[in-house]
Amino acid sequence: AGQIIIDTDPGQDDAVAILLALACPDALEVLGITCVAGNVPLELTTINARIICELADKGDVPVFAGCDRPLGRDLVTAEHVHGRSGLDGPTLPAPTMPLQDKHAVDFIIDTLRERPAKSVTLVPIGPLTNIATAFKNAPDIIEKVKEIVLMGGAHFAQGNVTPVAEFNIHVDPHAAEIVFGAGVPLVMMPLDVTHKALVTRARNAAIRAIGTPVGRAVAELTGFFERYNPDRYGEDGAPLHDPCTIAWLLKPDLFKGRRVNVVIETQSELTMGMTVTDWWGCTDRPPNATFIHDIDANGFFDLLIERLARL
Ligand code: BDR
Ligand code: CA
Repeated sequence: AGQIIIDTDPGQDDAVAILLALACPDALEVLGITCVAGNVPLELTTINARIICELADKGDVPVFAGCDRPLGRDLVTAEHVHGRSGLDGPTLPAPTMPLQDKHAVDFIIDTLRERPAKSVTLVPIGPLTNIATAFKNAPDIIEKVKEIVLMGGAHFAQGNVTPVAEFNIHVDPHAAEIVFGAGVPLVMMPLDVTHKALVTRARNAAIRAIGTPVGRAVAELTGFFERYNPDRYGEDGAPLHDPCTIAWLLKPDLFKGRRVNVVIETQSELTMGMTVTDWWGCTDRPPNATFIHDIDANGFFDLLIERLARL
């Protein structure tokens, strides 16, 4: 199985991504879950990650607390999207499994140093603060990373937190700059693709119809997420961003991407965190990312439902 570390700020869609990964021990071994501040503050993302592990009956997955603020800016959160807890929707019990003592950044560094080179994939689905801090503190680990598969950025889709910036990149653009500049093989799931992975009413009903506690919880998580900005999403349903990363690891044929150069805007307040994507090759900057822009959405939801049903 491919070994992964999920770096996350749960968040309903983060929760679904974690569940999807935990549902696939045949294909993915989750070495640890590292939490970061993002959708809600770190105190809550560390609780939410453990709530989700226990929902999946995987209380043995180590969960670590990481950075509580971005590298160079004040933390911006998104309670208007995710609710006060970050995981509003279902009623789930408070976690009993422990939070690990080690700092998330040290876990990332130690894991990459201990394991064979290019065996561990990083899956960041929140702001990139933990990953960038690990790269800054221990540059030797950069070449040991197999791949980074992240949710973040946007090009033709424009932004969701400012007119041109996607939330995860906008919250910590300086961290994103480090990660995109590190030279690690990088696959990005920007809004261009996640806004094609929509939880329609029919899909939400199909998730509920799994009929298990996990199925019900995921229906309620995605149902809550749905209520954010119904004018924008309307009948089509809200995007299910973060699980696209895990689905790509499981079944890359569901997606289409393009090798491009992406540079992060860190100077202008107006466009802070914009992923400046050289789609047409206007510059001679070499590609540093595979920019995923299309998805077989029906295939994606079939995969999600089939796998969640195993938990
Ligand atoms: C990203 O921001 C968060 O609100 C979601 O969890 C996702 O990771 C989408 O822009
Ligand atoms: Ca997230």
